[in-house]
Amino acid sequence: MDDQVRIFDTTLRDGEQSPGASMNREEKLRLAHKLADLGVDIIEVGFPAASPGDFEAVRAIAREVTGPVICGLARADHQDIVRCWEAIQGAPKPRLHVFIATSDIHLEHKLKLGRTEVLDRIAREVAHARSLCDDVQFSAEDASRTDPRFLSQAVAAALEAGASTINIPDTVGYALPHEFFDLITRLRQDTPGLDRAVISVHCHDDLGLAVANSLAGVRAGARQVEVCVNGIGERADNAALEEVVMAIATRRRDLGVDTKINKGEIYSTSRLVSTVTGIAVQPNKAVVGMNAFAHEAGIHVDGVLKQPLTYEIMTPAEIGIGQSSLVLGKHSGRAGLKNLLQEIGYQLGDEDFERLFGAFKVLADKKKEVFRDDLEALIADEILRIPHRWRLKYLNIVSGTVTVPTATVIIDDGYEDRQEFGSGVGPVDAVYNTIKKITGTNAQLLRFSIASVTGGLDAMGEVTVRLEENGYTVLGKASDPDILVASAKAYLNGLNRLDFLKRQAGLAPGNGAGGQGNSQSPPTAGVGRNDS
Ligand code: KIV
Ligand code: ZN
Repeated sequence: MDDQVRIFDTTLRDGEQSPGASMNREEKLRLAHKLADLGVDIIEVGFPAASPGDFEAVRAIAREVTGPVICGLARADHQDIVRCWEAIQGAPKPRLHVFIATSDIHLEHKLKLGRTEVLDRIAREVAHARSLCDDVQFSAEDASRTDPRFLSQAVAAALEAGASTINIPDTVGYALPHEFFDLITRLRQDTPGLDRAVISVHCHDDLGLAVANSLAGVRAGARQVEVCVNGIGERADNAALEEVVMAIATRRRDLGVDTKINKGEIYSTSRLVSTVTGIAVQPNKAVVGMNAFAHEAGIHVDGVLKQPLTYEIMTPAEIGIGQSSLVLGKHSGRAGLKNLLQEIGYQLGDEDFERLFGAFKVLADKKKEVFRDDLEALIADEILRIPHRWRLKYLNIVSGTVTVPTATVIIDDGYEDRQEFGSGVGPVDAVYNTIKKITGTNAQLLRFSIASVTGGLDAMGEVTVRLEENGYTVLGKASDPDILVASAKAYLNGLNRLDFLKRQAGLAPGNGAGGQGNSQSPPTAGVGRNDS
């Protein structure tokens, strides 16, 4: 049997369904290029029927990103498939991914269809997809809770209609590894012709078993694994790309398979996904967490210094972690900045580079040493963020043990500078109350957190906020050596994201970047889509 496991990355589709992780076209394009550099075999770039914004993003990636197969998702529905094909057909290697649920619970309560109707739908719509695209993948949603005999019939129908990849999802993260192994094994035995197709597995992490189940699937014969970078995804997430890839790389001989991933790109890809989505990587996260290679206990440190293999089963260098920690200072010039950018995996156009250089000089004046993490935070703030409607121009805060905290804020709203003054129970509250006056927002602040990006008293403070309005949830993120400035910028970043989503759905006036929507459109992925 083929010993290569294809890595199907769905960060831009299922990952985007993680609450607050919605991405715009430019952010998706940047990530898609990075995933191509990482060497994934297939990128699932979106669900074109979900919203005009998703359609545009998928179409742009299909036209621009070369290397991996570019895949779009569609329900087993005529119009969805047509729309998906319109979006992906510009790709050199397009794939149409058609799905329908097969478990009784989904048939009865969600689809309100009988089994025969589902089989007919599979035969008809997979054949329709195949008439448009040579590469068709079929997914039996909720496969792990489907009657195995019916699952085999559904898969047989898809194969007969022309699907060449069959995906078996554990949609609700319910399976145990031995059950998932048995499910794939039995399906292979019971379904004639399945061994001529590629079997794929797609596992969610509701019980923390997504990676274990994916590997069980591989052991049973699956040769495609669907994953998301940092394991982001619907509810409790998807199997994490970096964990699946490093498990296979580290235990290659035992598993008898390999992937084609450029492992040295794993860490920078993880950072980029975290930056773009605003979802932080937990410090104890396997492979890419801050502590994944940190040794605290004296006995461990001693062992690692004598021989890294005593406590390290893989090395940080393998996944591209931190050759250089100290980087630039205020005397560094353009060449130094360019060098470092290259090292951490960013290629910026001239205009973006000049903007970043200007911001770097301002930061280097405030901080003696600019570290790689500082630079990534700057890139997030200056380059990767969605178009700003509101920009912070001035902030002055008065606070202390005997003063009512007050703030004066000036915001550029694209037309003019608007100034307000306000107070609050603390300095952040005063800043946020004043920003509310200027922007007129009704968004609710669900969460506020501060972390330090680098070490030392002059470290960049990184603030993350979670905001909610009209059913949309977004994350806002910003960094600055001054935590009150970072707080103000993070809040504005969240408000800009909300504004972008509302424009995209036609809920807000204006002619911003997302203005191609209408009020009939479902919200963009990650903020309410629930079909998959
Ligand atoms: O979890 C799931 O079942 C899915 C399918 C659309 C593949 O995301
Ligand atoms: Zn899924």
